[in-house]
Amino acid sequence: MPMEPRLVLSTGSAEETQNIGEGLAQMLGSRDVVSLTGDLGAGKTTLVQGLARGLGVTEPVLSPTFTLIREYQGTVLPIYHLDVYRLERLQDVVDLGFDEILDQEAIVLIEWGDAIEALLPQTYLQVELTLPEERPTRRISLSGRGPSWAARWERLEQLATSWQKV
Ligand SMILES: Nc1ncnc2c1ncn2[C@@H]1O[C@H](COP(=O)(O)OP(=O)(O)O)[C@@H](O)[C@H]1O
Ligand SMILES: [Mg+2]
Repeated sequence: MPMEPRLVLSTGSAEETQNIGEGLAQMLGSRDVVSLTGDLGAGKTTLVQGLARGLGVTEPVLSPTFTLIREYQGTVLPIYHLDVYRLERLQDVVDLGFDEILDQEAIVLIEWGDAIEALLPQTYLQVELTLPEERPTRRISLSGRGPSWAARWERLEQLATSWQKV
């Protein structure tokens, strides 16, 4: 199996993390899925806010921790934002119509996506956020699952050079 392409970034503020999300949005198209992982407070919702902004969402993006799912309208596509933290069984996501959501012309952003890995499509972008000792820094690791991300990786790396102030 080929190694999955990976890219590691770091940010020093919530705004920088949102800017990465906004830039990353340019890479997303219909039926793309982004799975975000990381501890509470790592910045998953913050990154989603940036992604949503980049996709043209104008209303405020709030954490769907209690509602499990929220839908937004982007400029081109609807965006589903899920947070499966409180989920007790995989079946709860199935009952929510997760398969139908994946079948739509939409972009799907999932916090704690690793909890439902078995239900994710073959192709998705994995975003792992970690809190190193030297907070407020966040480490943001992007990895592409599936061939369509391998094909897009060079462009993603190019874009990323403008997000990262080294
Ligand atoms: N570099 C950073 N990136 C993201 N969030 C940061 C950063 N530095 C500080 N923060 C703060 O950390 C918190 C992250 O919260 P949130 O995005 O809701 O995390 P999660 O959804 O992973 O639980 C926010 O209060 C945000 O302002
Ligand atoms: Mg969150």
